[in-house]
Amino acid sequence: MTHEDIMKQDQDYVLHTYNRYDVALVRGKGAYVYDTNGKEYLDFLAGISVCNFGHCNPTINQAVKEQLDTLVHTSNLYYTENQGELARRISEISFPGKTFFGNSGTEANEAALKLCRYRGNKIHKDKYVILSLKGSFHGRSTGSLALTGQAKHQEGFEPLLPGIYHVEANNIKDLEDHFNQNVAGIFLEPIQGESGIHPLTKDFARRTRELCDQYDALLIMDEIQTGLGRTGKYFGYEHYPIVPDGFTLAKSLANGIPIGAFHIDNKFKDDLPPGKHASTFGGNPLAMRAGIEVMKILTDGLLDQINDTSQALFGILEQLKAEYSFITEVRGFGLMIALELSISGIDVLKKCHEEGLLCNAIGEHIIRFLPPLTLTQKETQLFSEKMNRVFSHFKGV
Ligand SMILES: Cc1ncc(COP(=O)(O)O)c(C=O)c1O
Repeated sequence: MTHEDIMKQDQDYVLHTYNRYDVALVRGKGAYVYDTNGKEYLDFLAGISVCNFGHCNPTINQAVKEQLDTLVHTSNLYYTENQGELARRISEISFPGKTFFGNSGTEANEAALKLCRYRGNKIHKDKYVILSLKGSFHGRSTGSLALTGQAKHQEGFEPLLPGIYHVEANNIKDLEDHFNQNVAGIFLEPIQGESGIHPLTKDFARRTRELCDQYDALLIMDEIQTGLGRTGKYFGYEHYPIVPDGFTLAKSLANGIPIGAFHIDNKFKDDLPPGKHASTFGGNPLAMRAGIEVMKILTDGLLDQINDTSQALFGILEQLKAEYSFITEVRGFGLMIALELSISGIDVLKKCHEEGLLCNAIGEHIIRFLPPLTLTQKETQLFSEKMNRVFSHFKGV
């Protein structure tokens, strides 16, 4: 199909909940994707941190193909081998616990929210309050939308799930003011992604842990964007002097096959008992098999490569900042990087597309990069050349 045919069919039949860029992608390989005209793009967004192990990764795809011919779906009424193996591998790189599988990030957060509420209700009838942070993003289902601390996403859907309150990020006084014995849990992104890559401070994370312990509330880390190597460690929380009670994963866990996971410390393993939560597709053998392959790649020395690539990319971006005064800040962890600009982010993004580079603009002045974690030195060098060309268009602006 041509670019125009694809666009027209989409506009005629797909519910218009997205404003898409004028790019139609048909194929991907490693760090590259290709449009209808065969134009190559270096993918520094990776499907918003989903295809982190490269598009059509041959090892993962081979395993998925084998699984397709073996068993795709049964039901959670029966045991299957892959679910336990992936859950075990998640425990091995975090802390001993139990994992519930769903199909997306929003579902992972729903499961966590339900466990916090169910446990809270058992302790006493008013222990249902859930806290999260202003500026956070936790998903779009009604529960996870209520957690999401951004009015622009919530407007028009009121009344939202009651009993959820938003604390100002990194404001310890505001955090303390919201905490009491009625708090059942708090959701934190270690580094807020959708709002433009804003990390928590260590003091704020530490105080949250103390307050959770004091008031018997659960600390849940939303690692949907930050987890699985994205920040240079297995989990974003490892940059902080705390361990959460649970965390949620999705996005890259199956490198593009829909998946979500909620992992909870063994101490709380009985707080969402049989019959209280379920998912038809969650934990199906196909997604689990992809997840197992992802975990093998991740734990086979990839963190060292991620940190080397991160150092090289920060070097390139700091050099650009020294050259172009409209770049006001380079920030991030590992391969979760943002540029703060004094010029229009959308204009920069358009030039990136012209130059064959995918990334995204957040708000008016932030450009976000989430490249594949498997990026090579050659691809890093190519990024440098493309960004130099992009920014040279804005010289003198
Ligand atoms: C931190 C975080 N939480 C939750 C979600 C929601 O995940 P999904 O879109 O898979 O439901 C996202 C998606 O961008 C996210 O970045």
